[in-house]
Amino acid sequence: MESLFPSLSGSITKLTSFAFFLLFLLSCSTFTSTEAYDALDPTGNITIKWDVISWTPDGYVAVVTIYNFQQYRHIQAPGWTLGWTWAKKEVIWSMMGSQTTEQGDCSKFKGNIPHCCKKDPTVVDLLPGTPYNQQIANCCKGGVINSWAQDPANAASSFQVSVGQAGTTNKTVRVPKNFTLRAPGPGYTCGPAKIVKPTKFASADKRRITQAMMTWNVTCTYSQFLAQKTPTCCVSLSSFYNETIVNCPTCACGCQNHTADPESCVDPNSPHLASAVTSSSKSSSAPLVQCTSHMCPIRVHWHVKLNYKEYWRVKITITNFNYRMNYTQWNLVVQHPNFDNLTQLFSFYYKSLTPYEGLNDTAMLWGVKFYNDLLSQAGPLGNVQSELLFRKDASTFTFEKGWAFPRRVYFNGDNCVMPPPDAYPWLPNASSRPVISLLCPVITILASLVFLWANA
Ligand SMILES: *[C@@H]1O[C@H](CO)[C@@H](O)[C@H](O)[C@H]1NC(C)=O
Ligand SMILES: *[C@@H]1O[C@H](CO)[C@@H](O)[C@H](O)[C@H]1NC(C)=O
Ligand SMILES: *[C@@H]1O[C@H](CO)[C@@H](O)[C@H](O)[C@H]1NC(C)=O
Ligand SMILES: *[C@@H]1O[C@H](CO)[C@@H](O)[C@H](O)[C@H]1NC(C)=O
Ligand SMILES: *[C@@H]1O[C@H](CO)[C@@H](O)[C@H](O)[C@H]1NC(C)=O
Ligand SMILES: *[C@@H]1O[C@H](CO)[C@@H](O)[C@H](O)[C@H]1NC(C)=O
Ligand SMILES: *[C@@H]1O[C@H](CO)[C@@H](O)[C@H](O)[C@H]1NC(C)=O
Ligand SMILES: *[C@@H]1O[C@H](CO)[C@@H](O)[C@H](O)[C@H]1NC(C)=O
Ligand SMILES: *[C@@H]1O[C@H](CO)[C@@H](O)[C@H](O)[C@H]1NC(C)=O
Repeated sequence: MESLFPSLSGSITKLTSFAFFLLFLLSCSTFTSTEAYDALDPTGNITIKWDVISWTPDGYVAVVTIYNFQQYRHIQAPGWTLGWTWAKKEVIWSMMGSQTTEQGDCSKFKGNIPHCCKKDPTVVDLLPGTPYNQQIANCCKGGVINSWAQDPANAASSFQVSVGQAGTTNKTVRVPKNFTLRAPGPGYTCGPAKIVKPTKFASADKRRITQAMMTWNVTCTYSQFLAQKTPTCCVSLSSFYNETIVNCPTCACGCQNHTADPESCVDPNSPHLASAVTSSSKSSSAPLVQCTSHMCPIRVHWHVKLNYKEYWRVKITITNFNYRMNYTQWNLVVQHPNFDNLTQLFSFYYKSLTPYEGLNDTAMLWGVKFYNDLLSQAGPLGNVQSELLFRKDASTFTFEKGWAFPRRVYFNGDNCVMPPPDAYPWLPNASSRPVISLLCPVITILASLVFLWANA
């Protein structure tokens, strides 16, 4: 083949390398993507499973479970909100472990009044401390769901719903439509409900298996682009070998402009700080950030601290500039080629993420419960820090060309804006600037894998 058609295979090779190059460029320059696909968590999704556990004279009782199958994106207070549209004239007679936010118009009913008569109910979790007779397993956590990597035991949330004026067999039931999930803000897109094999439940002693009458699944995926128009986090860099501190890019998350919007940010030394923070002139969920050149609610600082013979040490500091947010169960995802040889980590938890087999360059870091799992609102307590000790691999380790700095950083699942590679601190004796940025080899490998897979 090759010898017969050298020019053909040559042009195919050229095409392939061109495709690689394109992917390389794309993966290195595009930070916000409109697609829900996340290279570091390719199968990440939230699945909502409805198990019909019994039929009733006019409908069914279902247990609905929201599974957060995302490695590092959690749902923090004030929690999830789930909505859907009924296919016919269904009503909700009662709920356990959750409630609808509005009852709607139930004026047609006498005697027994439904919990909700709306065509498009909106459901929220109940709060912790709900009376036991209104609870079911996995409910009542105020809508907070942890991420799969951080705490799989707390990565699901359930409620029970008793539906009336509905189908009463698996032939006549119509699945609800148009699911919406807010967690707590926008960002998720849900697909249609798909009827799947009925779930099987094992009894506590595992000696008997029961099964649902009918099951359907809804899958929702996240897109940072849908969640917010501007980034929420940026990265700054420094090193022991160069006194320059490379700040977050100016205007990374917005520009400071007191003329246009005097409330866009607050000065930490301002005497009006306290009143600005508590003022309700803006929606209380909108961030109120400290005035900085980057205007980001979160800054992640990576400092290359020490160089030993066989090891090197990095200090990571996460700073909260948002006066309106305490980040609970925060997490950080960092991509750096030396994560395959992380030797020691202080005061954070760590889990290696391996989205692709054989690639071990991505780590998820999060706080220790009751110690630093809460990143407090902007102010003297609004930061957490840790040090990482890496073992050098003689064949790859270098302080040159910005190798010691992270390739990508995510805070709570959202991509942080990095300084441009040519601004990274240099080694004092670096004679010339790097011509080609060597920052993306790993991303290129990822891109190639995706490319190969797409062509397989
Ligand atoms: C959702 O995530 C689960 C767990 O990772 C995975 O098995 C499933 O295939 C995913 N679903 C979709 C539609 O991606
Ligand atoms: C519906 O129930 C019948 C038995 O009553 C079963 O054979 C069939 O597979 C079920 N269909 C679905 C979609 O669950
Ligand atoms: C689906 O829900 C959204 C938001 O609730 C609404 O804007 C849209 O019109 C709905 N679509 C259908 C087909 O019901
Ligand atoms: C439906 O969702 C459940 C729970 O997430 C999962 O175990 C099951 O594999 C899903 N079924 C399909 C066909 O995706
Ligand atoms: C601030 O906003 C005002 C009004 O939009 C505009 O005229 C001005 O040029 C802006 N200033 C800066 C420094 O961007
Ligand atoms: C953050 O937590 C502190 C201490 O628990 C509390 O005083 C403060 O009101 C909280 N701030 C916000 C915005 O929730
Ligand atoms: C990745 O590296 C970490 C730290 O050295 C190690 O604990 C983990 O087992 C590695 N995982 C894989 C899949 O190689
Ligand atoms: C870690 O470093 C050692 C020594 O340089 C090397 O032999 C090993 O392959 C590296 N990677 C892992 C995953 O341990
Ligand atoms: C430190 O790095 C900066 C680039 O960020 C460079 O301009 C400067 O010359 C470097 N300092 C030394 C002493 O090499």
